[in-house]
Amino acid sequence: MNKNIFHQQGLVSRQHREQQSGHKSVILWFTGLSGAGKSTLAHAVEKALFELGCRTFVVDGDNVRHGLCADLGFSADDRQENIRRVGELSRLFLEAGVITLSAFISPFLADRARVRSLVKHGEFIEIYCNADLEACERRDVKGLYAKARCGEIAEFTGISSPYEAPVNPELIVNTGVDSLESCVNTILDYLKLHGVLRAE
Ligand code: ADX
Repeated sequence: MNKNIFHQQGLVSRQHREQQSGHKSVILWFTGLSGAGKSTLAHAVEKALFELGCRTFVVDGDNVRHGLCADLGFSADDRQENIRRVGELSRLFLEAGVITLSAFISPFLADRARVRSLVKHGEFIEIYCNADLEACERRDVKGLYAKARCGEIAEFTGISSPYEAPVNPELIVNTGVDSLESCVNTILDYLKLHGVLRAE
């Protein structure tokens, strides 16, 4: 940390923002294999929250890799840097009073633990989008598993690069088996139960 750089305090606090929007801000962190349904679920949860009047934003791997993280590939080091950047980005959104839905494979336990450690207890909600490799590969929505199998894509998660499943996530949703609606409801119920959303 450069000792010549200081923190600048704003006049509008996160608490003010949360009061104005009527809900707390948290990071909903969706992790799982490619094709497990992280983005689909994150966007569906966002829509439901938006319709309840919440301030929301989805930060998505497939999108930030076209911009903020366009210089990064899929080596372990690059994935670590990817998750570091989007973790910091998610923290900024948290400070902005937004319910932030971050959807990244984020295959490494240590990288996810580092993001968790950036924020207070209860503000990082890890959601394991649990779907079998076989199911993701069978669906192969983007055709990437087929390319990975024939060696066209190196270091592909689940095929030639590891995925470390969460050990103690706040939530596990069986995206390979359960309906989208039921997964959305599981997450909304969690947010109500834990006081993120105002009880009706
Ligand atoms: S992460 O591992 O660094 O968290 P991220 O979520 O940003 O990955 O990006 C994953 C997306 O990039 C996948 O959904 C897939 O569309 C695409 N992709 C391209 N190459 C790979 C690869 N080698 N491994 C995994 N995903 C890849």
